[in-house]
Amino acid sequence: MLTIHQLHKSYPTPQGPLPVLAGVDLQLPQGQSLALMGESGSGKSTLLHLVAGLDRIDSGHIEAHGLALEHLNERQLADWRRTGIGLIFQQFNLITSLTVADNLAFQARLAGRHDPAWNTELAERLGLTAMLDRYPEQLSGGQQQRVALGRALASRPALLLADEPTGNLDEHTSAQVLDLLLQLQADTGCSLLMVTHSPAIAARLQRQVVLHAGRVQEH
Ligand SMILES: Nc1ncnc2c1ncn2[C@@H]1O[C@H](COP(=O)(O)OP(=O)(O)OP(=O)(O)O)[C@@H](O)[C@H]1O
Ligand SMILES: [Mg+2]
Repeated sequence: MLTIHQLHKSYPTPQGPLPVLAGVDLQLPQGQSLALMGESGSGKSTLLHLVAGLDRIDSGHIEAHGLALEHLNERQLADWRRTGIGLIFQQFNLITSLTVADNLAFQARLAGRHDPAWNTELAERLGLTAMLDRYPEQLSGGQQQRVALGRALASRPALLLADEPTGNLDEHTSAQVLDLLLQLQADTGCSLLMVTHSPAIAARLQRQVVLHAGRVQEH
């Protein structure tokens, strides 16, 4: 379960603080999928980064799996990033010097949760078995995003955070990757918080919310 209460976040600028999130309230029960929509600049990525523990909130509360993120020290926050979440970005963000196999295992190894059987199953389900020895630059965009999806799920995180994961893919490939993502999410029981600009993609998730004027509105 993810609970966000009265979350405030602003960025410092030369003109003074720029308020981006101004009282976000949001709950995501375990296993649920939620689409986060909103105009460009509305703060969607900011919200995802805060939940991921990549940045600190100004005030309010984020509770994820019993952890109050605002009370964690740097080491505890690093633990949360390593073991609590899986992250997928629009740019696939694979490690170019590692093979597909090593990219897949990378986060799970960091988390101390490398499970070879689960890794093999993920590679099969994502259609990556024939390309485990290749490097990211030898893959298409859709293949790279499938690796990124496998990497995020390999450590069996309870929460998957995805920031426009199909934003760089053509319509057909985007649909394929989304199908795989939703199947694996349902099968593993993880929660999914996904940013998307596409109403059609958002409609495939269980719930849709819009970030507007610093707050979340149910859609
Ligand atoms: N590190 C930063 N320093 C200053 N301002 C920032 C920083 N990061 C983001 N912003 C500003 O905060 C606002 C929200 O940015 P954010 O990236 O969260 O928007 P977004 O909803 O993800 O937009 P998009 O749909 O274009 O990805 C924007 O006005 C942006 O310019
Ligand atoms: Mg963004």
